[in-house]
Amino acid sequence: MSELRLKIRKAIETDLSDIVNVWKRNIKTINTASDIADLFHSFEKYFFVAVYTDTADTKRFEDKGKEKVIGFVGGTIRSGQGHISGIAVDKEYRMKGVGKLLLKVVSAEFLADGLDIVTLEARKSDTGAIRFYEKQGYKRLYIAKKYYADGEDAIVHEKKI
Ligand SMILES: CC(C)(COP(=O)(O)OP(=O)(O)OC[C@H]1O[C@@H](n2cnc3c(N)ncnc32)[C@H](O)[C@@H]1OP(=O)(O)O)[C@@H](O)C(=O)NCCC(=O)NCCS
Repeated sequence: MSELRLKIRKAIETDLSDIVNVWKRNIKTINTASDIADLFHSFEKYFFVAVYTDTADTKRFEDKGKEKVIGFVGGTIRSGQGHISGIAVDKEYRMKGVGKLLLKVVSAEFLADGLDIVTLEARKSDTGAIRFYEKQGYKRLYIAKKYYADGEDAIVHEKKI
């Protein structure tokens, strides 16, 4: 019998279009596909995807056969520190611990490279994401005025991992 399993794995080149789609579906952003591709190519080792895998050898998912990408995290290095440039989980798969796992794996990768401080920005109005980050131990550092292209402020967060 076939069964669906969640897996977090390193992203590879062929995941890029899925990452772009998940990013654009879920994050209010002006980042273009080519901006996201540039980030990916510069920091590939800090990009992970959450995939559902069909344990049977059937072609369950229309486009991908056995796998479906439902989330990703894009880590980068900024000012010598780990940085979360993007993280998203498709709506129907949220609140099941996937986001938490994605943050955990990218943090372990940062730590393995000696990067023990991780920073990120969240939109001031995005109380859901802020709650999520703060539950993972991120602390508010300061407000970056008009950080986003539409003029919204960001709350910069940091975690010592
Ligand atoms: C933020 C996001 C990645 C969280 O992913 P997720 O898989 O739903 O998160 P998890 O299920 O791992 O949640 C981990 C914890 O955070 C809490 N949490 C997650 N989303 C929350 C929300 N919107 N409001 C309040 N708490 C939230 C969960 O309750 C859980 O708490 P627990 O550890 O006490 O059980 C997801 O909501 C998302 O993709 N949002 C849209 C994109 C986005 O805002 N990205 C961040 C800015 S770039």
